[in-house]
Amino acid sequence: MTENKMEKLISLCKRRGFIYQGSEIYGGLSGTWDYAPLGVTLKNNIRNLWWKKFVTDREDMYGVDAAILMNQRVWQATGHVGGFSDPLVTCDNCKKRFRADKVETYDMKTKKGKCPDCAKGNLSEPVQFNMMFKTNVGAVQDDASISYLRPETAQGMFVNYKNIVDSFHPKLPFGMAQVGKAFRNEIAPRDFTFRSREFEQMEIEYLVNPKDWSATFEHFRTEIIDWTKQIGLNPTHVYENEIGDEDRAFYSKRTIDFEFEFPFGRSELYGLAYRTDYDLKKHSEFSGVELSYLDEETKEKFIPHCIEPSFGLDRTVLAVLSDAYMEDTMSDETRVYLKFAPSVAPVKVAVFPLLKNKPVLVEKAETIYKELRKEIGAVMFDDNGNVGKRYRRQDEIGTPYCVTVDFDTIEKDDTVTVRDRDTGVQARVAVKDLVSYLKAKLS
Ligand code: GAP
Repeated sequence: MTENKMEKLISLCKRRGFIYQGSEIYGGLSGTWDYAPLGVTLKNNIRNLWWKKFVTDREDMYGVDAAILMNQRVWQATGHVGGFSDPLVTCDNCKKRFRADKVETYDMKTKKGKCPDCAKGNLSEPVQFNMMFKTNVGAVQDDASISYLRPETAQGMFVNYKNIVDSFHPKLPFGMAQVGKAFRNEIAPRDFTFRSREFEQMEIEYLVNPKDWSATFEHFRTEIIDWTKQIGLNPTHVYENEIGDEDRAFYSKRTIDFEFEFPFGRSELYGLAYRTDYDLKKHSEFSGVELSYLDEETKEKFIPHCIEPSFGLDRTVLAVLSDAYMEDTMSDETRVYLKFAPSVAPVKVAVFPLLKNKPVLVEKAETIYKELRKEIGAVMFDDNGNVGKRYRRQDEIGTPYCVTVDFDTIEKDDTVTVRDRDTGVQARVAVKDLVSYLKAKLS
């Protein structure tokens, strides 16, 4: 299944309304994806769980929602204008462009290699290609009006550090958190949403006294692992890759890449970096604004150091979809289902009347549906086709439980069947107990 799992997943995402190609009716726009109703709900569920775990449930986090467009000095200060680039190589035969470090046939030392596409041409020496999308703010297009679509959410927090301190007077350690869009003009977008040109990040800039960096790093290391379990990722698919001195960003003193076994191979899912005082120091230098912290107790004054856990939201959605994708045999048929953790499933329960043309069943099913919607929220009503087909449809979108109203419900004992997505096993549950039964199962 692994070789074509990705194609199957992409096809299911389109067919069932999770993710569509961006601008599809115009032939698409490379590196962009549109989330469809079920994909939006899945993504929102993940985003909300992240926010709850890392912001609401903690007392040391401050949420930020900064503008995507920022003063160009921000990106000069951080080094993005000068150095946020990837090595671009061009084939002298087919003229296609590639990211040199991602081409297996290219030797970064000798700066030579064959074109992976046409296999005839030679690839050029790399030139550095800046990945920021440049734009102009206002009616005048000159150097002073240049701005960029932010390539990371992180800087929207660093530039608000002083504002947060002035408004809330937090004591170290504390963190700032933000979820939002980031844009990178990737040379080679690839693997569905994995490497996109427009994507969302969920980032934390956690500020500490430098003496505490190591313990905080360890704390977030375990929190990240805990998070991957919470959203239902298979622990054997998550790896920690300690980045060596030669490969780390120049400002980082320690970085762990959390990698995930995607269907196309093991690749980066999240990053955890000790960014030292690099960002705040640079912003202080470039803005001329004092950004140091005064410890009232020790009278020590210093620029706080930063531990940054950085999560890609779209990559999380892709990892969750990938681990949820299952095939088995049920009633002598191959079945595809998404084994979502209930907390991320876009639809938690589906309610069916056994037969569509029996008003007594439909009415009862509608009453139950309305009650469950009030109590559980994401509940779907489905009376299309036979029950077997409805089960398959719900399996394919990962609905954990299906409730069917049949003649026994009406004529016998006011019970319904509740079918479990993963086993297909059905239980009869009294309608009066249904809400508490389902809530317990979903929790
Ligand atoms: N502030 C640090 C930072 O931006 P990064 O490793 O460049 O670090 C963090 O990005 C996370 O953002 C990655 O681990 C990944 O999950 C996500 N990400 C980065 N580039 C991406 C892209 N082109 N498409 C989708 N997600 C991306």
